[in-house]
Formats: sequence, C-alpha cells, structure tokens
Amino acid sequence: MDLEEDIRSLQLDSAEDINGVVNPEDEKPDVDNFDKIEDEDPKQEVQAQSVEAEPKAKDKEIPPVQDEEDEHMKKRHLNVVFIGHVDAGKSTTGGQILFLSGQVDDRTIQKYEKEAKDKSRESWYMAYIMDTNEEERVKGKTVEVGRAHFETDTTRFTILDAPGHKSYVPNMISGASQADIGVLVISARKGEFETGYERGGQTREHVQLAKTLGVTKLLVVVNKMDDPTVNWSKERLELSLCLYELIWNCKEISYWWCSIRYDEIESKMVPFLKQSGYNVKKDVSFLPISGLMGLNIKTRLDKSHCSWWDGPCLFESLDSIEVPMGDPQSPFRMPIIDKFKDMGTVVMGKVESGTIKDGDSLLIMPNKDHVKVVAIYIDEKRVNIAGPGENLRVRLSGIEEEDLLSGFVLSSAANPISTVTEFVAQLQILELLDNAIFTAGYKAVLHVHSVVEECEIVELLEQIDPKTRKPIKKKVLFVKNGAIVLCRVQVNNVICVEKFSDFPQLGRFTLRTEGKTVAVGKITAI
Ligand code: GTP
Ligand code: MG
Repeated sequence: MDLEEDIRSLQLDSAEDINGVVNPEDEKPDVDNFDKIEDEDPKQEVQAQSVEAEPKAKDKEIPPVQDEEDEHMKKRHLNVVFIGHVDAGKSTTGGQILFLSGQVDDRTIQKYEKEAKDKSRESWYMAYIMDTNEEERVKGKTVEVGRAHFETDTTRFTILDAPGHKSYVPNMISGASQADIGVLVISARKGEFETGYERGGQTREHVQLAKTLGVTKLLVVVNKMDDPTVNWSKERLELSLCLYELIWNCKEISYWWCSIRYDEIESKMVPFLKQSGYNVKKDVSFLPISGLMGLNIKTRLDKSHCSWWDGPCLFESLDSIEVPMGDPQSPFRMPIIDKFKDMGTVVMGKVESGTIKDGDSLLIMPNKDHVKVVAIYIDEKRVNIAGPGENLRVRLSGIEEEDLLSGFVLSSAANPISTVTEFVAQLQILELLDNAIFTAGYKAVLHVHSVVEECEIVELLEQIDPKTRKPIKKKVLFVKNGAIVLCRVQVNNVICVEKFSDFPQLGRFTLRTEGKTVAVGKITAI
C-alpha cells in the first residue's frame, strides 16, 4: 500500500471522502476514526453510592438570589476556544470582539495604544485587551488562556483565548478541553500561513488536539486579510489606484489575488481538516476577517472592502452553530480548573454534566470531601442554578482551599465520579519522538480534563486495525507511528476519570512527551 492509500485508510467515518486530495505531507493518522472505534467493553454503570454530604464548616450567610436572575437558563451558553499558530491574531480578534460588543471604551484602547507603543509593540494594542499580564504584553505572546464574555441575541459566549506558542501547548489543551466550539485563526499574511501549516506548526497540532479534546465544530477564520501581502483594504487600494489603474485594472487584480490567497488557504486546510477527523461540510465553516481592523466581525463586509465575499460575519457564524449540550439530568460533574479564597473556598470550572443548585450537598473527588454549595456565580452574577456547559465560580463550605488541587472534580454525592490509578485505553499514536517505538514502560504526561499527571504504559493488550476496527494482533510487544492500540495505563496518584462511552469529555485524553503530543486516547475500562 502506498503512502496516500495508507492515509486514506485512516479516514474517519464522519469525514467526507476527500477525493484523493491529500497533501503528501499529511500522513498523520486521522483522529476521529479512532473515536469511532467501538468500545467493546460491556457498558458498566458507575456504581451509585448514596453518601450524605455533611459540610464541615458553617455555611456563609448569603441571601438567596431572585428568580429573574436565573434568566441565563433561557439563553444558551457556549465556550469558544480561539486556537491557531503563534501570532495568527487570536488575542487581537478576541479583543476586537470585546471592543465591538461595547465592553471596552475608546479611552482604554488609547491607553493600550500608548502602552503598546512604549513596549515597541504598536500593533499589539488590541491583543492587550485579552493579554492582561506583563509578560504577555512585553513579549506579545499569550501564555495563560484568557477569558472573556460577550453576548449575541441568541447566545452567551465565553471566549477562551489559547496561546499559540509551542511552549504553552499544555495551556492550550486546558482551554480546548473546556470548549464547545473552536475558532481556528489562520494568518493569511505571506509566509505566516505556511509556517503555521508546516509540520511542527501549531495550526496542525491545535486542530488535532481540538478534535481529540471534543471540539466538534470549527470556524476557520482567515485573518489579516487587510495585510499588504493579501490586500483587500479599500484605503490602500485608493492610494495606489492611480498608478495601478494605468497599468491594469488593479482593483480587479487585487480582489482576484486576495480571493486566490483565501481559496489557496481553504483548499489546503480542507483535506487536512478531513484527515484530522472533521466532517468539513457539516462541522466546519470558513470566513475571511481582519481582526485588527474589525472587519467581518460584528457586521458583514462592505462590498467596497471586498467584492467577492457574500457570506456571514463572525458573530452570525458563531450564532448559527448548533452544538448538542450535555444532559442536565445526568450526575453532576465539574472538573476544578482553579481555586482561591474569598469568604470561604471558591472553585472554578466548567459543568460537564448535570445541574448544580444553591444549597446542594456534593463531594470533592478523589478525596471524598463533603461540601455544600453556598453560592454559584456566572461571570459576576449570582445564580440559583446552572447546567451543562456553564463556566462557574462556586463558593463551597466544608473544605479549605489548600485541600484542593486542579484536576479534582466537584461531583454528585449519590453518584460520584470514578477514581483510578490504572485504566484501559485505546490509544492512537500520532508521532513519537525520533520515530521511537511505543512499548510497555513508555512514560508520558497524561492530560485528561483538568488533570495533568505522569503516566506509564504498563501493558500493550492488542493492536487494532484502523480500517476494520477489529483487533489484529494480540500480545503485541511494540507499535509505531499511526498505530491504534489497546493498553493499560498507570498513574502515580489517584485521578478522577470516566469511561469515554459514559462521559466523553471526562474519558478522552492526550499523551505528551518533551513538549510534543505523541498520542491521543479514550478510556475504555476503569
Ligand atoms: P499568540 O497569543 O502569541 O499565539 O498570538 P495571537 O494569535 O494571539 O496573535 P496576536 O493577537 O497577539 O497578534 C499578533 C500580531 O498580529 C500583532 O502584531 C497583531 O497586530 C497582528 N494582527 C492580528 N490580527 C491582524 C489583522 O487582522 N491584520 C493585521 N494586519 N495584523 C494583525
Ligand atoms: Mg494571543
């Protein structure tokens, strides 16, 4: 079988036929096929343990909130992670969204312009809205995942602005693992698209990670369309028009060149996205923007800027994305991302399943600490109740802040999350360092929801044929890049996870070694 056939044999079911259009560089195995491989273990019910929560500390006296404050339950909430190669314009676009939705005033922008200029980073002023710490502003690079909120008529959005630099991929993983949809920002500037798309570029790594981490819908925004190397800017055209018009009909040529560049990017991205497991027709859309100029973001492009684009703007596209939400009736699970002290202990995280209410008695797993919900906040607003997909701050009684770690899970007391030090998983090997072989004893860093933990592969159980999805080799000793293998994985500390088939978001993970993602996996038995 030649290389192209090999690649196609790894195509996912959900992805469309790519008609043989494969970039020869794209021999990375596809990820969704892997997702689709049947979980052959019988479905095990998580054992229900009825545990009454007994708060240790006295509940804080906080007045209950009014019913009308639970208005949020009427408008859907989506977490959008901004991903893509370093400097693609994620923070600039995020900042522009906040500016255009009226959350940042002109004076603040002027202040950022001055600050950016003082730091010799003039063009970064919009990014400063999202990049709030000094290190990020000095270097012009996002480090921590930035968070912000904005609303359209139908949806409340939380923006998670991930870092693009390869050193901060673990932070990107944590952002993407909380997201429902992804905005993949690609720079159209000459040379920049190419570097991001190359092997080792973060455009590729982020797409593959997003798919594995459960980001099912992608909006690909082709950014920096205003850049002189791309050029749709009306003003630029007007300045140079006299000269150009003497020679050829420049406007036409410019638009033609601009749409060529856009088409080139789209045509290169589509096969790669399909290969990474996305059904491009159903789950992906493309649109051109200029994050810096704020074009095609809140309102549609004016014909004078761009004659060839008739499609929607970013806000419209985000609004129209449909995402199945988690089940509000299932057992409550909220992995803890962060914690702090504020009139008690406050934990932050995204509700992965179930519903939380004021006064609920819950467990903090894996330590089985009984806690009581004293107050729930969405952004700055206190609410009585919150369901799947919401990013919350929850004030708890019954636990001290120092007894918590990120990766712990706030969990239903009657039906708590499973805790393990070992599990069985199906792994898809992406790219091992120096083409190493993958065998028992292989050590890596496991990323599963908000857990980051050293792990070791203790046994390879069987190899699976990506085409037939059937086991092909029992008692396999080693596998290479692209293989799918069932194996036993061990961690040093107890962690909270679930079977992928029960709670996909809590049962999918990535393995990284020396800063590179080497495999993606799903837990099949615990
Ligand atoms: P990381 O956080 O480091 O991954 O980068 P980022 O993707 O957040 O990029 P950022 O928003 O910091 O922008 C990087 C550079 O690209 C800055 O100089 C921006 O001014 C520039 N930039 C971003 N969007 C646009 C755009 O639409 N047009 C032009 N011309 N430049 C842009
Ligand atoms: Mg950034």
